[in-house]
Amino acid sequence: MTHVLLIGNGAREHAIAEAVARSSRNPRLSAFMKTNNPGIASLASEVRIGRYDAPEAIIAFAKETGAEFAVIGPEDPLSYGIVDDLAAVGIPAVGPTRALARLETSKSFTRNLLETYGIRGNPRFRNFSSIEGIETFCDELAGIVLKPDGLTGGKGVLVQGDHFQTRAEALGHCRDILKTHPGVTIEEKLEGEEFSLQCLCDGRTVVATPPVQDHKRRFIDDRGPNTGGMGSYSCPDHLLPFLDSAAVTEGLEITRKVAEAIRLETGISYKGIMYGGFMITASGVKLIEYNARFGDPEAMNILPILRTDFIDVCRAIIDGALDRLEIVFEKKATVCKYVVPVGYGLPQDHRDAASTSSRIEIDAVPGARLYYSSIDQRPDGLYMTSSRAIGVVGIADSLEEAERTAESAVSAIRGPVDHRPDIGTEPLIRKRIQHMKMIRKEHIG
Ligand code: AMP
Ligand code: GLY
Repeated sequence: MTHVLLIGNGAREHAIAEAVARSSRNPRLSAFMKTNNPGIASLASEVRIGRYDAPEAIIAFAKETGAEFAVIGPEDPLSYGIVDDLAAVGIPAVGPTRALARLETSKSFTRNLLETYGIRGNPRFRNFSSIEGIETFCDELAGIVLKPDGLTGGKGVLVQGDHFQTRAEALGHCRDILKTHPGVTIEEKLEGEEFSLQCLCDGRTVVATPPVQDHKRRFIDDRGPNTGGMGSYSCPDHLLPFLDSAAVTEGLEITRKVAEAIRLETGISYKGIMYGGFMITASGVKLIEYNARFGDPEAMNILPILRTDFIDVCRAIIDGALDRLEIVFEKKATVCKYVVPVGYGLPQDHRDAASTSSRIEIDAVPGARLYYSSIDQRPDGLYMTSSRAIGVVGIADSLEEAERTAESAVSAIRGPVDHRPDIGTEPLIRKRIQHMKMIRKEHIG
């Protein structure tokens, strides 16, 4: 029996739970969740509901259930140092210690790390802890991006053209940020197409999983406000339509060097997921940011097609043995579409309040996988809350077929719900390819 403790309560963690449950290593799953996810609960032998910032409760649960190791889904418990707390009672984890989770929680830490160790991929940037010098630096940049230092729940990055227009506005934002954060990183705005490269790291060996493209904007054609991610796709060749194998290798090489740099810098081995948010630009692959965990939705693209036993993968990460494990992903296309309440992602006063606490009904959905996110199981059925409700994943030999599978499953979910019908479709993918062509042409020309 392999007893695994999972921390987390979203669709990403539902996909992790399923990967554990699929293992042939006689798995027994216990789940520590902030809210009760019925999908995870159905796969777990024990469930505990509690707060991620209360390590005593998590440790007590881990000891009671006899966890052999833990898998940490979201960033919050990582940033609170749950991996350190678990290590103190002899329970190893797939996930970095608090100091190493700075890769995600501190934008300045990561930018400095790349610079100090001469790793390519940084845009022009500078870190500021006061307003002094910000105006001059902004004047040197063609486009400005502002990043508060510290975890911001994915909503803290401000991009010129999207969130503000002028330099004066940028300065105003910096003043506000510095009131609530220890610093702000200011960087050059990059142009290109983004991709997520989720890598497994045991401290020395780094293994890439298939690249995925996420869709942050709330509405069709990449319009509307940014969200946690409305859906994502991956391709059977483990590349993306605008991304060749050289670019994927470049992202992996950067991540390998960062894993080494972080070990040299801190003296600690990074054991967990290094999810690089990269952008392919006219001048190669650039690093947007690292996350210290799987992506949500991107975990739902890669875990269902992982052929290697997930428990073996976790053990190899913990034991520093990734170089001795063959990690295989099926050559399949995946399309994930998030079903959300119609009011999701909109400002409070534009929200149809009723939709965010409505009941939904799910008809039979042959062929697709459903991963529950913010879903509340009540005696009379499933209810949505204010956030993303269900990740619907189609898996097939071609992107077209995977998209169709996901789409037909989405239409089987009834209630005041919405999704992005364009994710994974040919017209949107063509737009991505055209976008890259245009950027390369402008660069040459
Ligand atoms: P978030 O995931 O909310 O932290 O937002 C990060 C997003 O900001 C990325 O997905 C990019 O779209 C954007 N972004 C961050 N840094 C840059 C940059 N240097 N150039 C252009 N866009 C950026
Ligand atoms: N897909 C964005 C994230 O997980 O941060």
